[in-house]
Amino acid sequence: MTGRSLRERLEAAGQSWLGAHLQTLDGEARTRLERQLSALDLELVRRLTRAEGLAAGGLGAPDPHPYVSAEDRAADAEAAARGMDEFRGGRVAFALLAGGQASRLRWDGPKGSFPIGPATGRSLFQIFVERLRRCGRRYGPDPLFAVTTSVDTDAQIRTFFEEHERFGFPRARLRFSCQGTLPALDDEGRLLLAAPDRVFVNPDGHGGAVAALERDGTFECWEREGVKTVVTFQVDNPLLPVADPDFVGRLVAGRADIATKIVLKQNPAEKVGLVTLVEGRPRIVEYSEIPEAAAAALDADGSLALRLGSIAVHAFRLGFLRGHVTEGLPLHRARKEIPTVDAQGNELRRLGLKHERFIFDLFPQARSVQVIEVLREREFAPVKNAEGPESPATARAALEGEYRRWYAEAGVPAPDGTLEVSPLQAEGPEDLLHS
Ligand code: UD1
Repeated sequence: MTGRSLRERLEAAGQSWLGAHLQTLDGEARTRLERQLSALDLELVRRLTRAEGLAAGGLGAPDPHPYVSAEDRAADAEAAARGMDEFRGGRVAFALLAGGQASRLRWDGPKGSFPIGPATGRSLFQIFVERLRRCGRRYGPDPLFAVTTSVDTDAQIRTFFEEHERFGFPRARLRFSCQGTLPALDDEGRLLLAAPDRVFVNPDGHGGAVAALERDGTFECWEREGVKTVVTFQVDNPLLPVADPDFVGRLVAGRADIATKIVLKQNPAEKVGLVTLVEGRPRIVEYSEIPEAAAAALDADGSLALRLGSIAVHAFRLGFLRGHVTEGLPLHRARKEIPTVDAQGNELRRLGLKHERFIFDLFPQARSVQVIEVLREREFAPVKNAEGPESPATARAALEGEYRRWYAEAGVPAPDGTLEVSPLQAEGPEDLLHS
């Protein structure tokens, strides 16, 4: 502690206007804002005003990363056997990144509580938990599992899980981890007010979520339990076979620091991060940060030159994750609409600069990354928008399509009506034969 007054520290961070604003508040409102500002990393704010610590822009011309095709993957069962051994040994833990806001989906609640099961309305959370329970039943023990939350969603998510008795998941194997926040700035480098007595902050991105798992001791606890691999996945993709032995097996057998799943991108505008090599280092370049011309460039055979679309499912060697996540991931800055008020409390929506950290900024630091192609119709049906593409309707259709394929492959007639298979009952056609 420097002993400097809050006013001096605000001044050093380029926020002297907030010092003056504090004087206009009285009583409790002033105390509330003082408390928030005292807890805020004002040194970070100072660096943000100078655009320090931001992720490198102008990435030049990224090259495609080598990858294992879905076809090669299907022809080789060795990795899956290796992965099953990892599950049996209890060496795999899972982290569900659920700290985002479901704003595009227009759902009033945490995104994971959204009812997505085509027939039953099972929530996204229930589907993931049941897939992990099935993994536990099949390989034993139940995997260790963390749900990362944010200040806005933490209480709601914990309550949702408790109200549903954790969907049967054992309490002792489940942890919740609340990520931090980052402040936004206006074009003049000033913090923004969410209310007269509160500065606007937003969740610090999934990079912040993994940092929280280190900070709150989850990783340490997992390491003590013998975990070697951590699989991270997003809350928005109900089609994902979460506990995938082949995926984990390829990380372990390939002695890689990271494995990641991709689908082949359908068109230049598809909103997926691209798995690339930049100056020889693996890197995911986010769709919002890739120049249009690079996204649209074609190979000699007419396919997209950069076509490895990230489905945001990564497996990390825990030792690698722990060694690097604490070093502070770079900050990504995006101009977005922010709900704010002026000093008098009048509501205004204005554009501001939001900041986030991304988990995939760990990629350039990995010794090697195994990039694994999966089939879109079997593993990737994200729920992003309320309607149209990547919406509940498309995800439900994809789930039903996958379940129908299972019945067809098993040679068992599918029941009439809307089709949904409980993850506890089956994770593929072979289980339908025995159920
Ligand atoms: C994301 C990926 C993109 C990938 C695509 C696949 C990022 C930045 N981009 O895009 O590369 O191709 O998914 O569907 O992730 N989250 C947190 N904490 C936060 C913010 C987000 O946990 O502070 C979680 C959300 O709950 C969600 C996930 O991260 O599970 C994705 O967030 P979102 O902002 O929706 O990413 P997309 O733009 O869809």
